[in-house]
Amino acid sequence: MITASNLEVRVGARQLLSPASFRVGPGDKVGLVGRNGAGKTTLTKILAGESLPATGSVSTSGSIGYLPQDPRTGDLEVLARDRILSARGLDDVVRRLRAAEKAMASADDETRDKAMRRYERAEADLHAAGGYAAESEAARIAANLGLPDRVLGQPLGTLSGGQRRRVELARILFAQAETLLLDEPTNHLDADSIVWLRDFLKSYPGGVIMISHDVGLLEETATRVFHLDANRAEIDVYNVGWKAYLTQRETDERRRKRERANAEKKASQLVDQANRMRAKATKAAAAQQMLKRAEKLLASLEDERAHDKVARIAFPKPAPCGKTPLTAEELSKSYGSLEVFTDVDLAIDRGSRVVVLGLNGAGKTTLLRVLSGLERPDTGSVLPGHGLKLGYYAQEHETLDIDRTVLENMKSAAPDLNDTDARKVLGSFLFTGDDADKPARVLSGGEKTRLALATLVVSAANVLLLDEPTNNLDPASRTEVLNAIRSYTGAVVLVTHDDGAVEALEPERVLLLPDGVEDLWSADYADLISLA
Ligand SMILES: Nc1ncnc2c1ncn2[C@@H]1O[C@H](COP(=O)(O)OP(=O)(O)OP(=O)(O)O)[C@@H](O)[C@H]1O
Ligand SMILES: [Mg+2]
Repeated sequence: MITASNLEVRVGARQLLSPASFRVGPGDKVGLVGRNGAGKTTLTKILAGESLPATGSVSTSGSIGYLPQDPRTGDLEVLARDRILSARGLDDVVRRLRAAEKAMASADDETRDKAMRRYERAEADLHAAGGYAAESEAARIAANLGLPDRVLGQPLGTLSGGQRRRVELARILFAQAETLLLDEPTNHLDADSIVWLRDFLKSYPGGVIMISHDVGLLEETATRVFHLDANRAEIDVYNVGWKAYLTQRETDERRRKRERANAEKKASQLVDQANRMRAKATKAAAAQQMLKRAEKLLASLEDERAHDKVARIAFPKPAPCGKTPLTAEELSKSYGSLEVFTDVDLAIDRGSRVVVLGLNGAGKTTLLRVLSGLERPDTGSVLPGHGLKLGYYAQEHETLDIDRTVLENMKSAAPDLNDTDARKVLGSFLFTGDDADKPARVLSGGEKTRLALATLVVSAANVLLLDEPTNNLDPASRTEVLNAIRSYTGAVVLVTHDDGAVEALEPERVLLLPDGVEDLWSADYADLISLA
């Protein structure tokens, strides 16, 4: 159980949440929603006890399992399996068992005897912690989240960002914590895993707070919805499921709109009245008062309007280039003994549109990294054509330098850009004045996505490599990104499991991984997207 009392959240001078109280008990499935940058992640960190509120307090009973939005860097030498088992203290026991097993094969009698006793002790401990059943339960959860045995045997350092996040998710679900705090749990999951996660959460006996833009998940699992309204810095608690929440919220917004219209009317009446009274010396002071009140009314309205803005995204006009700006021949890539893909040939013509499909772990992100030049293929080569200008949008935002400011990131993407122009582009991506000087590390998930897209916009790229460009975005910003993809005239290679993004792209071709088979796009492939 989590209880928040008069909890106030601030970052710097900005108030994200004015004092609020709420409670999340066992069996509550809370969907925490609100637009990008509203403060959902910041609030969740406080609930998880990882940072402190400005005022007020959080009290918790029982354990908490927290999945942060960004994959965490921990000990990279640890095996994925041990990381998951460590949630119930099982990693150590399993390691002792394996070591004892090995020693028991010794030819020396004394060593063997000692090992036998160690084995018995370890087995007793394993039994106490839930035994072999727990170990296989962990493996089952992992498999359902798209982490096969092979991956579980790898050290965390060798896993992709998405895989690391799934390991963390598996660890948290395995931990059987009393309350789960999940920040965008479906971001790196394929359709099968999402369906499984829904069912898991639905029947979870503990409390759950989930931040998600995945409507399917919210519809299926949420029993309550907390809407963090960035305009008013307030949490609106709706003790109903998702569909009912949507209707109630619409009613609320209509009411607020009416109230706003009334306030506007009132303000203009006050101004009229004041202007008439000003003429008379005896009424001048009263007139002044009225004007002040009108100003105050209007100022609060102005604030709300500024917040309701949506990023204006249009991808760059592509720089001129030859007929085929990018070609790849016989690309293969493996990590150790694991072959990710083999013999991929690809020719990207000017303005052509390709969507890359493949199950989790089929190497989509790796292929884009190879095409972008960030990673070298094991065999084959990437051949830049005449005039090629690549723009790469990385799923984990690794093209951003999180130690530098928003503005500095823009300028390293386009060194010729002056401050004024950089700020202008940032403005259309909703980064105003102070925001430009924030270090990129403090940005919210959606803001990082917006910044990464903004750096693409100033690059005049004629081939865009886009890896899950709609993750983390609130519905309004997502629509903007889709429109930008739709109207861009350069070439695009897109990796996504968002079928809206594929629709916007209107692909001509599809590349299927891991086999590297290329085909003309047809509606039959549409069914594959959400599986990919
Ligand atoms: N240390 C900081 N200094 C200044 N601003 C900060 C700091 N930390 C967070 N912010 C700002 O606070 C706001 C809330 O961020 P938060 O990550 O909580 O948003 P969010 O609701 O999770 O958004 P998203 O849906 O994009 O993930 C953002 O505008 C972010 O830039
Ligand atoms: Mg967030």
